[in-house]
Amino acid sequence: MTPTLSDPAEPLAPDDLIALARAGWRLGARYCTACGGYHRMWGALRAAGVVGGADADEAVLAPLLTRALTPGARVLLAGSADPGILDMVARAAGTTPLRVMVADICATPLKVIETLRPYPAIQVETLQLDLTTLDHEAAWDVIVSHSMLPFVGPEARLEILTRLRRALAPGGRLLLAMRSASAMEDADAARHDEAWIARAQAKIARSGIPLPGPADEFDAALVRYAALRPARLWVTTPEQVEALLRSVGFRQVETFRSQESSELTIGGRTYAKRGYILEAR
Ligand SMILES: C[S@@+](CC[C@H](N)C(=O)[O-])C[C@H]1O[C@@H](n2cnc3c(N)ncnc32)[C@H](O)[C@@H]1O
Repeated sequence: MTPTLSDPAEPLAPDDLIALARAGWRLGARYCTACGGYHRMWGALRAAGVVGGADADEAVLAPLLTRALTPGARVLLAGSADPGILDMVARAAGTTPLRVMVADICATPLKVIETLRPYPAIQVETLQLDLTTLDHEAAWDVIVSHSMLPFVGPEARLEILTRLRRALAPGGRLLLAMRSASAMEDADAARHDEAWIARAQAKIARSGIPLPGPADEFDAALVRYAALRPARLWVTTPEQVEALLRSVGFRQVETFRSQESSELTIGGRTYAKRGYILEAR
């Protein structure tokens, strides 16, 4: 049988970042639409260490997951750029059986996840949807959302959190990963793309990863990726996110400090983001 786009000959291992990058690049050419090619690039940027993905938060997130993942738990991953969060959930669960639904607005990461070799204890499903339209009620025991909120505007943020709250079963919990960031000075904002592209190219060269496609096509996609970044800079603090969670009805919210993400220096000023995990019930 001839393999289809989302059905390669061999299932992929979740830690084979080079193969995942190739799959994302290939599938993204067909499936990335609203994201502007974000997911087509994401795998290669993750493999080269340009973007951190969920791995940077594993030390803090994994114990919270292990505590939350009881046998048979129904889990929703609300926004997932690649198999990283799913794989972290699988590691945290061990042999505990789970049902995991991976939801994203873009089909590309879901198609990549569908190419993975199956997890023995986890039943995985994918769902392409805009979370502002999620209308499930009491459907999941655990919802994990990693760095999704900066992708949407303030109104959609409130809408999504309201819907996630409604989608949690009684006694369920939301694990929300966020990054606090400071606003960029205007002069630095104007030089953001140039600085970010230079840093990305240096990291890609140092990492030695093979590019997933032709260099000219990859470089053009890198320029487009850089241009979309500033719109996703969410200038916020964990206190503000905690207040947002309480405003949609979460009664208990605990905040855990995670790592600082890699810095970007522009015009002598250094911008870094600090990760936090919020556990809300
Ligand atoms: C920053 S990425 C997540 C990165 C995360 N660190 C990871 O490893 O998966 C945020 C994800 O949320 C998704 N997303 C953004 N807005 C969304 C929406 N309205 N509905 C569903 N997914 C959305 C994006 O497509 C993206 O894959």
